[in-house]
Amino acid sequence: MNNDFKDIMQNRKSIRHYDSSVKISRDELLEIINESISAPSACNLQSWHFVIADTLEGKKKLHDFLMPFNYPQVDTAPATIMVFGNTKSNTKSYLKYRDLWNGMVEEKKVTPEARDAAVNTFLPLYEKADRQMLVADAWLMPHSSPCN
Ligand SMILES: Cc1cc2nc3c(=O)[nH]c(=O)nc-3n(C[C@H](O)[C@H](O)[C@H](O)COP(=O)(O)O)c2cc1C
Repeated sequence: MNNDFKDIMQNRKSIRHYDSSVKISRDELLEIINESISAPSACNLQSWHFVIADTLEGKKKLHDFLMPFNYPQVDTAPATIMVFGNTKSNTKSYLKYRDLWNGMVEEKKVTPEARDAAVNTFLPLYEKADRQMLVADAWLMPHSSPCN
């Protein structure tokens, strides 16, 4: 494991050609995504949506959608994971948001008063949010989230 931050930053680079003989199983791809979604998200709403292109048909669809400078990456990579911000999950997620906090109360991680304070603060903000805010929120831009 490399914990040298300077080394990691200065020696990392974007990979644009992959070994296309390598196969990544669906199980492994799902494991990667399942571990990734423990990442922080605005109000913990996890407003993301993943699409995997790992079949010939899926990769062709993706290829046709992209600009030519991205062909080498997607054509040689065994799989491409596309990450989308889901704006609908924000507007429709107040039940999920309530459930989330109710679950934390049941697990005795927070008090009912803390739940009520959070739900009463953030739900109204999401319910009256305009599209620009929902897009910014789903695109994981912390400064644009009402949670910040
Ligand atoms: C918002 C954003 C969009 C990017 N889009 C592409 C892209 O479409 N294709 C690509 O190959 N690299 C893309 N990159 C990667 C940059 O081109 C790359 O990080 C930059 O040239 C520096 O090279 P390095 O990552 O090897 O240090 C993108 C980076 C950012 C931050």
